Amino acid sequence: MAKRMISTELMEEDRRIENTLRPQMLIDYIGQAKVKENLKIYIEAAKQREEALDHVLFFGPPGLGKTTLAGIIANEMGVGIKITSGPVIEKPGEMAAILNNLQEGDVLFVDEIHRLNHQVEELLYPAMEDYVIDIVIGKGATAKSIRLELPKFTLIGATTRAGMLTPPLRDRFGVVNRLEFYSVAELKQIIIRSARVLGVEIDEEGAEELARRSRGTPRLANRLLKRVRDFAQVKYDGKITKEVAGFALDLLEVDRLGLDQIDREILLTMIEKFGGRPVGVDAIAATIGEDVGTIEEVYEPYLVQNGLVLRTARGRVASDLAYKHMGISKVTE
Ligand code: ADE
Repeated sequence: MAKRMISTELMEEDRRIENTLRPQMLIDYIGQAKVKENLKIYIEAAKQREEALDHVLFFGPPGLGKTTLAGIIANEMGVGIKITSGPVIEKPGEMAAILNNLQEGDVLFVDEIHRLNHQVEELLYPAMEDYVIDIVIGKGATAKSIRLELPKFTLIGATTRAGMLTPPLRDRFGVVNRLEFYSVAELKQIIIRSARVLGVEIDEEGAEELARRSRGTPRLANRLLKRVRDFAQVKYDGKITKEVAGFALDLLEVDRLGLDQIDREILLTMIEKFGGRPVGVDAIAATIGEDVGTIEEVYEPYLVQNGLVLRTARGRVASDLAYKHMGISKVTE
């Protein structure tokens, strides 16, 4: 199966680099203008009132800055942050311990919050609403419930699938933000900033080429920047130009629109296997051996946003642009 082959060491290194490149304050954060503007006001208001910020939910495709923004919120509020993720917390007791250890005003960031199990999620309702949890001590007839007061905290939840959150959880977030793909101009700015942080020389056209091929996603832009830097260092004189970026990205099989092998496989499946007829996401997933959720959350949003895939009432259809991009001529019956 054409899954991305990447070693754990590379992933570790990427994570480390990603962390060094993350902006720390709102002023350094490029893009997501609307989200930024709103957060700035909410943060200022909460600080003036000397209260914890209301609970915040971020949703949208991966790599667009959900974790980064959580870190920035904590920094701007001048509070601590505890980072965890939905599937990691298995029991209500673990969540109770995390909540109980927070300091007044702290941020608790829960990534993939749609994957919290039901019991853990239920514990969050009173915690979010009234900053209390009820814990049961003992078993059977002698069991009793005690109420524990929590410090006032801010829950920041992140999910790629807002539709998978249960209404009671979703309703308890006061601030809900959808993150959008970044424009080429924004990605270019991010790449130039990251190159400066990494001490890599890059020219305008090199940054533009990288930005065009980063799938609207800063995480990918920063990863590609790092890979392209290696090519620049070994094969050229160290500077990233359009030529170096183009050469490296071709080798990395990142195409002109930033599509990777799986994106292309999806388009090819729609065009060739299904003859360009409307097709359901389940059929696409089964054909290429990918998970339906991954296609819906990770791949499809970018293909739809860029007009390569059209969503119709009868299913997904590859657009004329997709045929052109894949170099396939459309046969009309
Ligand atoms: N690095 C990753 N995402 C970024 C962003 N939105 N702004 C600045 N630098 C970034």
